[in-house]
Amino acid sequence: MNQRVLTGVTTTGTPHLGNYVGAIRPAVAASRESGVESFLFMADYHALIKCDDPARVARSRLEIAATWLACGLDPKRVTFYRQSDIPEIPELNWLLTCVTGKGLMNRAHAYKAATDANRAAGVDEDDGVTMGLFCYPVLMAADILMFNAHRVPVGRDQVQHIEMARDIASRFNHLYGQGRDLFVLPQAQVDEAVALLPGLDGRKMSKSYDNTLPLFQGGARALRDTVARIVTDSRAPGEPKEIEGCALVAIHDALATAQEQQGFHADLRAGLAWGEAKARTTARLEAHIAPMREHYEALMARPDDIEDILLDGARKARAVAAPFLQELRAAVGLGRQVVPGSGAVMPRVADSGADTGKLPLFKQYREADGRFYFKLTEHDGTVLLQSQAFEGGRDAGQWVKRIRGQGLAAAQAAPVALGDGATWSGVEQALGRLMAHDAIEAQRSPKPAAH
Ligand code: TRP
Repeated sequence: MNQRVLTGVTTTGTPHLGNYVGAIRPAVAASRESGVESFLFMADYHALIKCDDPARVARSRLEIAATWLACGLDPKRVTFYRQSDIPEIPELNWLLTCVTGKGLMNRAHAYKAATDANRAAGVDEDDGVTMGLFCYPVLMAADILMFNAHRVPVGRDQVQHIEMARDIASRFNHLYGQGRDLFVLPQAQVDEAVALLPGLDGRKMSKSYDNTLPLFQGGARALRDTVARIVTDSRAPGEPKEIEGCALVAIHDALATAQEQQGFHADLRAGLAWGEAKARTTARLEAHIAPMREHYEALMARPDDIEDILLDGARKARAVAAPFLQELRAAVGLGRQVVPGSGAVMPRVADSGADTGKLPLFKQYREADGRFYFKLTEHDGTVLLQSQAFEGGRDAGQWVKRIRGQGLAAAQAAPVALGDGATWSGVEQALGRLMAHDAIEAQRSPKPAAH
């Protein structure tokens, strides 16, 4: 099997240069390696743990998706999706929760930091601690184990979480594997070569220190103004400058070639003024960022396209997750029941779509009124769902995609009515067959060659 590499990005903030240098650029480069299958997702369920502002969560996941795409992520090579589009993940989260020791979670750094701070402040040690925060590592384990990832590129602060995912996976394998490994034990991958970028004040660039350099936000002007705020020492023009430990130099060098770096260092040692050095840094960053920013702005102007890309990604991801979850459900005793008396096992959802002739069908069409519609019919033509009219064919198409990718919940949220005599459980059953069929098809379709 190919090496599977998977990582997630919590969608709470707006991407900055530190994210680009430390995570986005290396991940995009790694996704171009052959012989690896990459999964990259937006951890928007995790975002809810840290942020209860719906507008910010929504905005952040759009910005982050657009940023990764603008920075060269190719959704054809990488399975790129939102965690919240994969209902198998919260389901697996529960299976894992049931084998995870509470003591293990008590030892998680993030939880311990919260209780330590509470104790220091003299309040109840669990003050403000939600179950989301407490169980954060279990959900993260579900993200990883759902796809049997071998490698998980993360920052240092996340290594403990990957170790916990290994513990949880081993426990599950031991309890339910009957001698075989249901889960691959994932390995954290911390890239030592990727330097931590300092922020404007010389500490690590981080949103929590408010010392970041925005990647795209605010355009060229914000970039220039932020570079102007980078803290330098008070050496006058003409005086030789110190290269080591200088935030401005580190930021300049992050996007410069070796030769450009050497030239810059030599000029600084020869007394280049800080003002001039900042102008050169701005120009260097701008040259690298401007084409990506243009792409970013084009994407942000078309959120529908981003939505399409993400729904496609969710479909690919679910093609892996859905059949695997069936296996896991069966392993814990939640598989399909045997039909009493017959000894036959009722067909699993994953098997029942095999007969293509019996599949339900989505139809999209335009009426004489010039408006667009879709419907879902059974293989015998019975109408299960009938949509309202849409002004654009695209809107109809997106709903079809969403329902086909996400099933009943999406259907119930859609502007549709049940067909005559149809029931929601009939719709659920039909969508289950269709989605199982899609999942099997997606698995059959050739993956990018691994040579
Ligand atoms: N917790 C990670 C972070 O804050 C994000 C994340 C969520 C993640 N699920 C993951 C990373 C699974 C790797 C794998 O950076």
